[in-house]
Amino acid sequence: MKFTVAAAGLTFCALAGLVTSAGAQEVFRNTVTGEALDVEGQAPKEGRDTPAVKQFMQTGVDPYVEVAGCLPKGEEIYLESCSGCHGHIGEGKVGPGLNDSYWTYPKNTTDKGLFETIFGGANGMMGPHGQDLELDNMLKLIAWIRHIQKDDVADADWLSDEQKKNFKPFDIKAWEATGKAAAEKAQCKISGN
Ligand code: HEC
Repeated sequence: MKFTVAAAGLTFCALAGLVTSAGAQEVFRNTVTGEALDVEGQAPKEGRDTPAVKQFMQTGVDPYVEVAGCLPKGEEIYLESCSGCHGHIGEGKVGPGLNDSYWTYPKNTTDKGLFETIFGGANGMMGPHGQDLELDNMLKLIAWIRHIQKDDVADADWLSDEQKKNFKPFDIKAWEATGKAAAEKAQCKISGN
C-alpha cells in the first residue's frame, strides 16, 4: 500500500514536472502588431537545440550576453546582416542607432523584446530576420548588440547588477587592438555547460 501511494506520488510529480516545463515557454510577439510569432515554425532547422536556445526560450534572457567567446560570431552576423542600415558599430544610418540608450520600442531593452524585433521585424525597411538567422546565432547577435552599447551602463536594463559592475562602454579601438583577439581564443559557452 505504502509503495503504491509512493509510486503514484512519483508519477504525479513527473507529470507535473512535464506540464510545468512545457508551460514555461515564453510567448514571443511581433513588435509592431503584437501577434504571436511562430518561432518553432519559422526558425531554420540548424541551431535550435543548443543549451543557450533552450534556456532563452524558457526565460527570455540571452545567456550569451557578456560571454566574450560568443562576441566574434555575433559581430560577424551583425556586419553581414545589419550594419548596412544600422552602421558599423550601431551608430545608426538608414536605421536607428543600436548602441545608445534610446529605443523607439522600449521593449528592446529586454533580450526578449530585442529578439522579437529582429525575428519579426518592425516598420518599413526593418524586415523580419527569423527565417534567415539560426536561433543560436541570433543569441550571439543580440550579445554583440548589447556589447556595442556606448552609453551609461546604468541604463543598460538588460545587464544584471553583477554584469553592470564589470561592463565598460564599447570602444572600437580597444576591441580591434586586443578585445577581439582575446575573445576569439575564449569559448562561447554558457555557465553550467
Ligand atoms: C534594410 C535596412 C535594415 C536592415 C538590413 C536592418 N534594419 Fe533594423 N531597422 C531599420 C529601420 C529603418 C528601422 C526603424 C523601424 C521602425 O522604427 O519601426 C529599424 C529598427 C530596428 C530596431 C529597433 C530599434 C529601436 O530603437 O527600438 C532594431 C533593434 C533593429 N532594427 C535591429 C536590426 C538588426 C539586429 C538587424 C540585422 C539582423 C537589422 N536591424 C537589419 C532598417 C534595417
